[in-house]
Amino acid sequence: MLPMPPRVLPDTLFARNHLEMDDEGVFRLTARGRSLYQPHPAHMALEDGTASEPMRSLALLRKRLGEIFRDPLACNDAAGRLREMGQQVDALVRRSPDACIAAILITPCPEYTLQHALNASVLATLLGMQAQLDADELETVTLAAMTMNIGTVRLQDLLAGQASPPSTSQRQLIRLHPILSSALLREMGVTDPRWHETVQTHHEEWNGRGYPFLLNQEEIGDAAHIVHLADIACAKLMPRGYRSRLPARQALAQLYQNRDEQFDVRLVSLLVRELGFYPPGGFVELAGGELGVVVKRGASAQSPLVVLPDAPQHILDTTTPEHPIKGAAMPPRINLQQYEALTRLWENLA
Ligand SMILES: [Fe+2]
Repeated sequence: MLPMPPRVLPDTLFARNHLEMDDEGVFRLTARGRSLYQPHPAHMALEDGTASEPMRSLALLRKRLGEIFRDPLACNDAAGRLREMGQQVDALVRRSPDACIAAILITPCPEYTLQHALNASVLATLLGMQAQLDADELETVTLAAMTMNIGTVRLQDLLAGQASPPSTSQRQLIRLHPILSSALLREMGVTDPRWHETVQTHHEEWNGRGYPFLLNQEEIGDAAHIVHLADIACAKLMPRGYRSRLPARQALAQLYQNRDEQFDVRLVSLLVRELGFYPPGGFVELAGGELGVVVKRGASAQSPLVVLPDAPQHILDTTTPEHPIKGAAMPPRINLQQYEALTRLWENLA
């Protein structure tokens, strides 16, 4: 296995206080850095009680990941538990890809960072499969996407609900978080250099203007770039404190506009093809003005299979003249009860 290339720790006050580089060039948390990860009060949890399969499996995974995120340094065999969760994400994505995509689009996000980690892991795995990564690289993508922001869970949750732009110190922390996450993962027993490399470089951009190392595109691996794309796509598809979810068509169009500049055109094209403009879990307006939910991708990108939320037993084929689609609809805000009802749409729908 190739050793990780040597990198320099950015010189900021936060880095000097919280991170150090050891004799072998490995980023480590200082005692003060470790203090960032003491347990904090439990957040509101999304119960996995009544959601239906396969959404229940995803909710269970979110709960188990939450246990690690809330007290990362106290977890026994955190690296092994994360690997096991990575295998479960892989199996779920292979078994129920439509439900996995729908979960990204409809699951409420009381714990933004936790939900984002699972969403990004699912989407990066889907994209990695489309890009035909080998098994080891695919596992790296799944695990790195799941843990890329583990070093800043509290900050990310704060930013997700914050209406104002990040402060100067928050911006510094944002630019350091790929290294912080890697250093925390090392404390948790993760030693795989590919996992660390991918976490450390998940914000590097094709145009060389990413962070924290300002790498050129030749220096950015496919795994890191796939995680980067999944990270940004999920952020657009999830609600934030200051805005609602973007419809998939709009989110993908924004990514596609930046092909070659910010993203590799090959990978961004694969992502657009994988989600399509009407992904499962997206809302559409039918010709009669009704709001429908996409349950499954159809024969073509323009003709998904749709249901009306109050008649979930009738799947409408939008290729037929009776049920044409007018266009994508703005995703409504969904509460927990509506979410649980919606999850039943994907029960037994492999
Ligand atoms: Fe990140």
